[in-house]
Amino acid sequence: MSPTQSGAERLDPNRLPRHLAIIMDGNGRWAKERGLSRVKGHFEGSESVREVVRACRKLGLEVLTLFAFSTENWGRPKTEVRALMELLKRFLRKERQEMIDQSIRLKSIGQIERLPGDVRRLLEQTVAATAKGDKMVLNLALSYGSRAEIASACQRLAQRCLTGRLRPEEIDENRLAVELMDADLPEVDLLIRTSGEHRLSNFLLWQAAYAELLLTPILWPDFREAELIEALVEYQARERRFGLTSEQIQSGDPSGEEA
Ligand code: IPE
Ligand code: IPE
Ligand code: MG
Repeated sequence: MSPTQSGAERLDPNRLPRHLAIIMDGNGRWAKERGLSRVKGHFEGSESVREVVRACRKLGLEVLTLFAFSTENWGRPKTEVRALMELLKRFLRKERQEMIDQSIRLKSIGQIERLPGDVRRLLEQTVAATAKGDKMVLNLALSYGSRAEIASACQRLAQRCLTGRLRPEEIDENRLAVELMDADLPEVDLLIRTSGEHRLSNFLLWQAAYAELLLTPILWPDFREAELIEALVEYQARERRFGLTSEQIQSGDPSGEEA
């Protein structure tokens, strides 16, 4: 599909989010509505992942972070967890060459050490194989929980204080931010959650502090390129004020002094 056919001409290429994060939710309900197994829902969801990754690359986004598996998701039935791990392996095997060809760098955040060995190895291999990609970062949140991430960042800072390499008063927002797992990425500009749920579910609590939130009732397997573009159109219609007034933003003068 050409950009025109997909509706991308409705977007201002200069005002795209640099970093888009998505909570991909609703696979189970999508399957249930059709009398299918939850696993089939995840399978269809992985097709949405393919399509959304491609669309983001085509549009020119810098970073796409996808919440693929939370620390809480380990509590799901064993068969579902196993199927999700198999789908992840399938995705990594199938998309590896495409990511290399498209200069997409794969990265992950989360407790990777908790993943089964074969999944972890494949993930590490794919991250290494795509390391030179400089057009877009695909950041997969796997076995990810934001509170755990922040707690371990605090632990490392405290450790440095104990050994005298850091003074407690030196700990500020920037010091903490660089200890987080996505320190090399720009701030999240837009956070989308599909499936009509209105919660963050322990995702990027720190990083999304000033992200625009977009909550859509569309279930993840139905969220494809057209739905992504619709979401970006809505994002571009918003005014990001970062605590300032609308007048300050529109005049381009953050001091707010009138001429
Ligand atoms: C999101 O879909 C995928 C994961 C959490 C891995 P769900 O599996 O949560 O789908 P629902 O919420 O049950 O519909
Ligand atoms: C959040 O979805 C995690 C992912 C999308 C991977 P969940 O479906 O697990 O979230 P809750 O439990 O409904 O909040
Ligand atoms: Mg869910």
